[in-house]
Amino acid sequence: MPTVIITGTSSGVGLHAANALANRGWKVIGACRDINKAERAAQTLGINPSNYSIMQLDLGSLESVRNFVNAFRATGQTLDALVCNAAVYLPRLKNPQYSPEGYEISVATNHLGHFLLCNLMMEDLKKSSLDQKRLIILGTVTANSKEFGGKVPIPAPADLGRLEGFEAGFKAPIAMIDGKKFKPGKAYKDSKLCNMMTVRELDRRFPDSGITFSSLYPGCVADTPPLPQHPQTLPENLPLVPKEHHQGLRHPGTGGRSRRPSRRRWPI
Ligand SMILES: NC(=O)c1ccc[n+]([C@@H]2O[C@H](COP(=O)([O-])OP(=O)(O)OC[C@H]3O[C@@H](n4cnc5c(N)ncnc54)[C@H](OP(=O)(O)O)[C@@H]3O)[C@@H](O)[C@H]2O)c1
Repeated sequence: MPTVIITGTSSGVGLHAANALANRGWKVIGACRDINKAERAAQTLGINPSNYSIMQLDLGSLESVRNFVNAFRATGQTLDALVCNAAVYLPRLKNPQYSPEGYEISVATNHLGHFLLCNLMMEDLKKSSLDQKRLIILGTVTANSKEFGGKVPIPAPADLGRLEGFEAGFKAPIAMIDGKKFKPGKAYKDSKLCNMMTVRELDRRFPDSGITFSSLYPGCVADTPPLPQHPQTLPENLPLVPKEHHQGLRHPGTGGRSRRPSRRRWPI
């Protein structure tokens, strides 16, 4: 039975991906910061408990990432796929929040935590005997300058500048990768751009690893009303969103079964 680690399975895409893979015979490990919440969500959705377990991981803390990897290895399990799904989106923050190690929280959680996790777990993935080893990081159109969503200037498109903020250590008062003024919505976009660049770089550096590296846009996912009840009404409710973009609107449980299949896959 192949094993997959999915980060952030307490809600949304991660929760439903865990359910789908458990139903397909995968041994799923949910890597979650709030184990109780993740267990409640799994019970509510009815994830098969014999194919699903949860381990503690706070991606905002690099120490927690290292502890998670050690705890996983201590179980003696092999790893066949890693899905970096968890993310925070905090567009209303007035001031930057910082991780325990002192880094802006959106970039620390979405990028730095996953970056370390991927780098550490490459060793485990390489040992897998599965033909189709996978490392996947969730991306988003809003961080892709070639997409409509990536051009929206609210608060600004993703832009890493010349990594001035990283170069200066990325600790307070620095809160943006380009070293400029804090914009919480842009911090999220920047972090997802880093996610997508990480996948491309992994693919470039490890062409013979037998691992397929990919990044994907899950569509505009909502598991709150009105989407689950009235998905057909959403395009009409969003007249300003180009048709091409709202085709992806979906409930997280409808992956692969949406009204129209997603055409969006990030080129490696
Ligand atoms: N929803 C969309 O329309 C959309 C569009 C484009 C891309 N995406 C991407 O798709 C992925 C999933 O999105 P979603 O809508 O399913 O989000 P979601 O429902 O908000 O779920 C996010 C998950 O990440 C976890 N998480 C947050 N901070 C964490 C941390 N420090 N350590 C460990 N886990 C943490 C959350 O755990 P808690 O329950 O503890 O908070 C939750 O399980 C994200 O990468 C997102 O960027 C989503």
